[in-house]
Amino acid sequence: MTPDKTAQERLSAMAEPLLAWYDVHKRSLPWRGTPSPYAVWISEIMLQQTRVAAVIPYYARFMEALPTVADLAAVPEERLMKLWEGLGYYSRARNLQRAAQMICGPLGGAFPSAYQDLLALPGVGDYTAGAIASIAFGEAVPAVDGNVLRVAARVGGIHEDILDPKVRQRFRDKMVQALPEDRPGAFNQALMDLGAMVCLPGAAPGCGECPLGSFCAAKERGEQAALPVRRKKAPRRVEEMTVFLLLDQGRVALRKRGDEGLLAGLWEFPHVPGTLPEGELPPAWGLRPVEWRWRMSAKHIFTHVEWRMTGCLVEVRGGGAFVWASKADLEDYAIPSAFGKYLAEVKKIL
Ligand code: ADE
Repeated sequence: MTPDKTAQERLSAMAEPLLAWYDVHKRSLPWRGTPSPYAVWISEIMLQQTRVAAVIPYYARFMEALPTVADLAAVPEERLMKLWEGLGYYSRARNLQRAAQMICGPLGGAFPSAYQDLLALPGVGDYTAGAIASIAFGEAVPAVDGNVLRVAARVGGIHEDILDPKVRQRFRDKMVQALPEDRPGAFNQALMDLGAMVCLPGAAPGCGECPLGSFCAAKERGEQAALPVRRKKAPRRVEEMTVFLLLDQGRVALRKRGDEGLLAGLWEFPHVPGTLPEGELPPAWGLRPVEWRWRMSAKHIFTHVEWRMTGCLVEVRGGGAFVWASKADLEDYAIPSAFGKYLAEVKKIL
């Protein structure tokens, strides 16, 4: 292909070689084959912020526990959170349930099938609506995520900032034109697979095996490492906190997080902002320390915040407005993986 090809011409050349490649190399994933819309929806929500390999066991467990939309609509919140425990971004699970309740209630049990109607479900944005509409219902709409943007930026030789929503919309418009009407779901998933297996981020993607190599602008120009373009993100806010692992005769203190914001409604070890000096317990808790056992630091990175935690294991006596959980009780509480290091230590001790 001559170097003066437009980005759109290159992108529109993708469908045929991409689908031929996909038919041979596609990943065998549990939500593929002849999936129900429900299965596609659950998998796409899990895949929004979690890698395929990590999603697979959660997906299997979730589908076994809640095989239908009605099961999801009716499941008690604590059980749902427990099924989601470890996947992170828990608002996804809450939105899934709200959407299931909409489907079983106002929507009369019918799963929305059109891209526009899917967008109205809580937790379903442009990408996910496109993925469900194309994969489960064969609607010719694109599903443009980070992997797809990388492939498209490279094939088209597009140097615009992919973090800019206006640029994303332009990519989307180009993909609409590049999409084959007869196999939109396969095309979208082929792009995802190519992005995950061949057109990898960084300087050394697998161009030797790429079905799009003969017309890829980045390959032609040696620009693979420079694409896609991302402007620098604002740095994450760092929050220091002191986390108390309070033990009272074989039980550990837990409290429930508030209903809004990060990790809403999940359970946690009590903590306070800042790093308290050794030997200091928040007086408001009304606890009497008996033995200070250890301090251990831990870190957890969320999208916009980083927690730097100092954990203190303290044997205490006296009430406190906490739930006191035995080792067996811990199985009943959804505790986010941000506290995973401390949870593992506490389980060893209880
Ligand atoms: N990432 C998000 N959705 C996906 C899908 N359906 N197949 C593979 N990877 C994905």
